[in-house]
Amino acid sequence: MDQTRISDYDSEIEDSKSEDWTFSGADTKYFTHGLHPYPARMIPQIVNRLLNLYSNPTDLIWDPFCGSGSTLVESMLSKRQSIGTDLNPFAIFLSRVKTRPISPTKLKESKSNVFDRMHQLKKEQKRFDPPKMPNIDYWFASDVQLDLGIIRHAIDSISNESIRNFFLLCLSSTVRDVSYLKKREFKIVRMKKEKMKVFKPDVLSSFISHVDRCIPLMAGFKRNLPESYFQPEIIEIDNRDTPIESESIDLIITSPPYGDHSTTVAYGQFSRYPALWIGLELESVKTVDKRGLGGRAKREYDQNALESDILDLTFSAIRKRSKKRARDFYNFFFELNQSLMEMFRTLRENSVACIVVGNRSMSRIRIPTNLIIVELGERIGFTHERTIGRDIPTKRMPWQNAPENIEGVSADTMHTENIVILRKT
Ligand SMILES: C[S@@+](CC[C@H](N)C(=O)[O-])C[C@H]1O[C@@H](n2cnc3c(N)ncnc32)[C@H](O)[C@@H]1O
Repeated sequence: MDQTRISDYDSEIEDSKSEDWTFSGADTKYFTHGLHPYPARMIPQIVNRLLNLYSNPTDLIWDPFCGSGSTLVESMLSKRQSIGTDLNPFAIFLSRVKTRPISPTKLKESKSNVFDRMHQLKKEQKRFDPPKMPNIDYWFASDVQLDLGIIRHAIDSISNESIRNFFLLCLSSTVRDVSYLKKREFKIVRMKKEKMKVFKPDVLSSFISHVDRCIPLMAGFKRNLPESYFQPEIIEIDNRDTPIESESIDLIITSPPYGDHSTTVAYGQFSRYPALWIGLELESVKTVDKRGLGGRAKREYDQNALESDILDLTFSAIRKRSKKRARDFYNFFFELNQSLMEMFRTLRENSVACIVVGNRSMSRIRIPTNLIIVELGERIGFTHERTIGRDIPTKRMPWQNAPENIEGVSADTMHTENIVILRKT
């Protein structure tokens, strides 16, 4: 690829030296942001700064790829209205729990009922059928399944839906801890046999510690909400075609996936087993990675469809190394372009979209996602306002991947990210 050409564009990026966007060392898990992990979470400090720079209280904010709901939590805290959309049912569940304030007194009351019930069921050696899920015995030891069933049954006796969901989220964290899943992985990979033999998790204690960790986080969130805050609207939907009214959005803050889910961050795989244990529907959980942007590579490359020179250059460079990867690349950007068009339609005139993106590699070719987004955006009608470059100090990302899927081969992926700001003029 013509790297000189790409570097010319790169010089348009403002680095974060004049204004610190790194937020190195900052606590990114305060309040409900810390309730549960989610891959490639946006850090709340960035969202907060963008909200202050580009919106006013009571404005309507949309995060089209809302994931765990970082934009929604920050919008509530700064008195903005907000809408979140995502096609991962687990992301929707998580965003709803994180944005539903509950009084700590009520949580503590329910906690003692749930714990009593759970210990009683355990004493009576009650057995409950686990929810339907593929290969359950491959991922969970049989005694672990029994204990998870007991907790789930104890939680189901809570009649208040928001409180029940809060405890289900604590169960979800427990599921991650006690399964044979390798921890800190984005895809579902089982731990090594030797490790499995000695892996004897205490399921009930894990659940208790998550509940005790999460109640103060929820209490902090409730205490810090403004007196009159706006409850976000959270919709499980593909953001390329939404019911959001045209020209109704005052600001978009979002971070799209870095590429198709299967070869970058597999959001569906990450959330599959926790999602099934808390009762989300198997079919929609299992198909997340296929339905996410670029998930079903089907279109043949058409140079006239997107009209981005940088996209064309990158496509040709990847194609020299792998036709299949080039097709994946094209399909991802084709679909991202559809999301950008929906953002353009829904934004009010003169409002901005802030799009946080990482530049990954495919077949060892660096993909200048930020530059491609600028070109695609300009073709749709946006004006490029600025791009802020920042280092990523803490984000949970696959720092290294094996692009050709050869064991032992790895390449750097993302160490910096860019905040691309497009204005609808
Ligand atoms: C980088 S993550 C967003 C993380 C989020 N900013 C946060 O702080 O948690 C990207 C999200 O896009 C979602 N996604 C992918 N394709 C989508 C589509 N077509 N419509 C809606 N959401 C989609 C994925 O499920 C994932 O949750």
